[in-house]
Amino acid sequence: GDGKGRIDFEHVSFSYEGGHGESVLKDITFSCLPGETVGIIGSTGSGKSSLVGLIPRFYDATKGTVRVDGVDVREVDPKLLREKMAIVPQKTVLFTGTVKENIRWGKDEATDEEMELAARMAQAHDFIERTPDGYQARVGQGGINFSGGQKQRLSIARALVRKPEILILDDSTSAVDVATETKIKEALREYAQGLTCLLIAQRITSVMDADKIVVLDQGELVGIGTHESLLKDCRVYQEIFQS
Ligand code: GTP
Repeated sequence: GDGKGRIDFEHVSFSYEGGHGESVLKDITFSCLPGETVGIIGSTGSGKSSLVGLIPRFYDATKGTVRVDGVDVREVDPKLLREKMAIVPQKTVLFTGTVKENIRWGKDEATDEEMELAARMAQAHDFIERTPDGYQARVGQGGINFSGGQKQRLSIARALVRKPEILILDDSTSAVDVATETKIKEALREYAQGLTCLLIAQRITSVMDADKIVVLDQGELVGIGTHESLLKDCRVYQEIFQS
């Protein structure tokens, strides 16, 4: 289709500069179609964060091509490229200010309604409303007055308020309980149709209902498919499932 938010990895290899030349990603080829949710799973150090970092051009592929909406990312103005996407990093970054300012960060023109919808999708609205000052509550330095899972949900709300074509969640629900994580995914399906979502996770439960799951092992793509097909065919996926 001509929907936006397609991502293609074509024979992508990558090594960090000064990384002793060892390949962190080795000949990776797969596509995320517009509107798909693609899970990325693999043990620590398997290359998951490095892989998604190539999409906004935090780094460039050493070999091969990454395309967004069919265009080689190296041929796009990085600013325009990054406007299409929102990335929730592993370590959430909240600043001293109100909850509202934190959610609207980078998208100051967002209305209160847009902000609240983003918070609802991220399953943050209810706990925000339970605090005495609601959206005007102060977030302490580094978000100290919120739990790890609450901070992650505020970060997801911040990403959603930007209405991205592509949403990248880098282990962003690791501190969120499985039931709440499921609600976030359901809300995304309902309200953010057409959004392409890349979901890095350690837990199988986080990715098992994705349209497809990419399994990385030491920089190699060792499996791609649905939960059911990977359980049948992919040894690394079976091992993660059993651990
Ligand atoms: P977890 O986040 O721990 O689950 O790992 P991951 O699967 O996301 O792997 P990641 O892409 O973070 O790392 C892949 C490999 O690249 C590992 O061997 C890291 O040590 C290495 N690496 C990650 N970041 C850097 C960096 O900034 N510089 C260098 N030289 N190596 C890095």
